[in-house]
Amino acid sequence: EQKLSEVGLADTTKTSSTRFRSANWFNVDDAENPEMSALYADRYLNFGLTQEELMSGKPIIGIAQSGSDLAPCNRHHLELAKRVREGIRTAGGIAFEFPTHPIQESSRRPTATLDRNLAYLGLVELLHAYPLDGVVLLTGCDKTTPAFLMAAATINIPAICLNVGPMLNGRLFGSSDKIGSGTILWKARDMHAAGEIDDDRLVEMIAAGTPSVGHCNTMGTASTMNALAEALGMALPGSAAIPAPYRERTQCAYKTGRQIVEMVHADRKPSDIMTREAFENAIVVNSAIGGSTNAPIHLNAIAKHIGVPLDLDDWDRIGFDIPLLLNVQPAGEMLCEEYYKAGGLPAVMAELLDQGKLHAKAVTCNGKTVTDNVGGRHSWDRRTIKAYSDPMKKEAGFLHMTGNLFDSAIMKTSVISDEFRKGFLEDPKDPNAFTCKVAVFDGREDYVKRINDPNVPVDTRTILVMRGAGPVGYPGAAEALEHNQIVNMHAPGKVLRQGVHSLPCIGDGRQSGTSGSPSILNASPEAAAGGNLALLKDGDMLRVDLTKRKVELLVSETDLKKRREDLEARGGYSYPESHTPWEDIFRRETGQLNEGMVLKEAVKFQKVAQK
Ligand code: FES
Ligand code: MG
Repeated sequence: EQKLSEVGLADTTKTSSTRFRSANWFNVDDAENPEMSALYADRYLNFGLTQEELMSGKPIIGIAQSGSDLAPCNRHHLELAKRVREGIRTAGGIAFEFPTHPIQESSRRPTATLDRNLAYLGLVELLHAYPLDGVVLLTGCDKTTPAFLMAAATINIPAICLNVGPMLNGRLFGSSDKIGSGTILWKARDMHAAGEIDDDRLVEMIAAGTPSVGHCNTMGTASTMNALAEALGMALPGSAAIPAPYRERTQCAYKTGRQIVEMVHADRKPSDIMTREAFENAIVVNSAIGGSTNAPIHLNAIAKHIGVPLDLDDWDRIGFDIPLLLNVQPAGEMLCEEYYKAGGLPAVMAELLDQGKLHAKAVTCNGKTVTDNVGGRHSWDRRTIKAYSDPMKKEAGFLHMTGNLFDSAIMKTSVISDEFRKGFLEDPKDPNAFTCKVAVFDGREDYVKRINDPNVPVDTRTILVMRGAGPVGYPGAAEALEHNQIVNMHAPGKVLRQGVHSLPCIGDGRQSGTSGSPSILNASPEAAAGGNLALLKDGDMLRVDLTKRKVELLVSETDLKKRREDLEARGGYSYPESHTPWEDIFRRETGQLNEGMVLKEAVKFQKVAQK
């Protein structure tokens, strides 16, 4: 565990001579208009702050509170924020805690991704318009982390993330298995369907995966994005993996509060930390931890808002050949308690640093470099965190696929099953490539309705295509390419009976878990935004070449042109109407998944808002 003296805390007990941003609101002495300062201050005095605290030039630190009853993954922040406040106070700052728009992954309909950009907009306004000199971003559940980092990037005042931390390992009485949040669902559902357990036992089994406060205890999007926040340098080293209920988590809250005050005194801003080098480090780390396929969407969005060029070619070039080092579910066996006890992210980064895979001199929130923070912090638990020379898997990154069906899509090859490899990819006449017939579905209902229809051309050489699931077609983009998730794109009964368990998938939506067959996801532009996916028909032939990173629709240009004309004559690709004003605004303003799905109009404010 790092001591405070090691994390670069300055002596902030003395009042700094710096005139902070908040003085524009509260500083009576040099304000042009002292009545205005009094007016700004009076409501902050009315709950008990004193004039000395508010008007003597101390830094005012926001605490962006994401926890609430609506957002249970982040709810433990209601407790942690108390220790953040104490850290801020100890270092000579004044804490202003405020609520943010909740983003609960597991219950927000139609999808929590829709609210990433809404929470972003809300936080941008708060950071811009209120007397804040720095901010602690209380992150956790999947989209809270990228939403807050995007906002910090736009406004560019000193900012630091504090993750709520993962839940403890799940356990079920009567079993010694480790139970990860979510993963028990499929087993329980099958047992329930077979009549082996009743409704109460079903709930009990599923809830066994979520035994404490905190975010998902697997390497899902929450653990991924908080690891990447740390890899970017935007959270204290070693902080991402600490389980939510551990004492170290609460101690980390205190240290984070002290650190942000130091950052404000040092004027260490997001743009000083989130450089091109920092993003490259995050891409490398994502491969090594077996990070979520949602990571490119979110990291590219953060990069867009800080003004760093980053695209999916970078992910392929920098990240593809990095090995998987972390043995945590879903790519491995362990859960986040083992990950933390094995050394957490610094132990993973120490391996990558030794191999020259990280930018060693990138500066982080504590003012120190990556080498200072993680150098030599190798794991003592080689079952959980592997040595670089003895990885779980080689080449754990993503491929960037292009072709005539879409401009851009990603593919996670590290999860491809042996069965699929032998059946599809090891043909000596056509190695690392395959040609397939297409079965195409317009969203989940269509898939459920037709997957077992004998007229749909599904056999052991079919590629399942899900369209209408992108940011516009399904506002926010559905997680629709799951083998093990709600939408359940799996091989139908007649194919399973022939011994084939995994068929390849393509889609313009997202994916959260892993699957045994190659999924080509985030296809951009989506069908609903004019992409050629909208022109596909059942029975079309597709060729997928992993070496060339190509997906080619084997239909002539003339035929495609004719299909395009027919589609346009019918009024274009149709999708369900919006239910709320925000769905409508989002659909009009959003970019595509390959570009981070940011609000197109918001990107230009990156420079303006910082003035
Ligand atoms: Fe919130 Fe997984 S559902 S972290
Ligand atoms: Mg998810």
